[in-house]
Amino acid sequence: MILSEIIGRVGVIRLNRPEVMNALCDRLMADLGAQLLAYDADPAVGAMVITGSDKAFAAGADIKEMKDRTFPETLLHDFIAPWETILQVKKPVIAAVAGVALGGGCELAMMTDFILAADNAKFGQPEINLGVIPGAGGTQRLTRALGKARSMEMILTGRLMGAEEALAAHLVARVVPLADLQAEALKTAEKIASLSPVAVQMAKKAVNLAFESHLSEGVRSERVLFLSLFGTKHQQEGMAAFVEKRKARFE
Ligand code: CAA
Repeated sequence: MILSEIIGRVGVIRLNRPEVMNALCDRLMADLGAQLLAYDADPAVGAMVITGSDKAFAAGADIKEMKDRTFPETLLHDFIAPWETILQVKKPVIAAVAGVALGGGCELAMMTDFILAADNAKFGQPEINLGVIPGAGGTQRLTRALGKARSMEMILTGRLMGAEEALAAHLVARVVPLADLQAEALKTAEKIASLSPVAVQMAKKAVNLAFESHLSEGVRSERVLFLSLFGTKHQQEGMAAFVEKRKARFE
């Protein structure tokens, strides 16, 4: 249900259920989580990309698998819990989104570190049409990205948002033509993978603190992370390379 390969220093994971627009079933999410953890532990990988097809990043949780579940079942075997494996990943993960990223697909994309969107991308949380609400963080992460008014409108009506609107609304980092999406995502991930892994992981941790702490607490923690980087060879190499007008080598 997923296809994975390492290209250069980038672990690329492709969601692969084309017959159902990459609907996210339990098995796919378990495979995805296992592959993310494997790449996180693999020194040959410096960054990851999750992508889908040209038509669908993912059309959400698998409705056919979910439809007969009861409340006690969903409570006791919280089927969304494994979706959060991605939050344990220390290396950067980019979502390269073409086509639809709906419901759980949009939520999965929002759980990555940032989204690169093709110009045909469509984002939305249409769960309200199914008589439910987003269940994998959508009400929280969409609202942090878009603000209350737009997020509330999308979640209450199920309206979808195109790539340009998503860019203007700060949901995605960049929009590129569909034909360039994979190459751009790889190039971006490769750039990150070429940098100091220690600095990269601390940068990811520090930015995430902005969403999980108060300002003063976040700034204090950022200071500790920043100062601790002066204990690494990569700080010495990066700054020496700048002064000596050469390219830094982060080994
Ligand atoms: N689950 C299961 N199957 C899905 C699916 C999903 N989320 N989305 C699409 N499919 C299946 C369709 O049932 C169809 O299969 P069949 O050929 O067997 O009928 C196939 O994928 C192709 O889909 P469509 O024929 O509908 O294709 P389309 O191009 O006309 O429409 C679409 C595409 C707009 C994505 C539409 O399929 C759609 O609206 N899908 C559902 C989107 C949705 O509601 N997502 C939220 C799911 S709930 C959730 O995610 C909960 C959570 O927060 C964790």
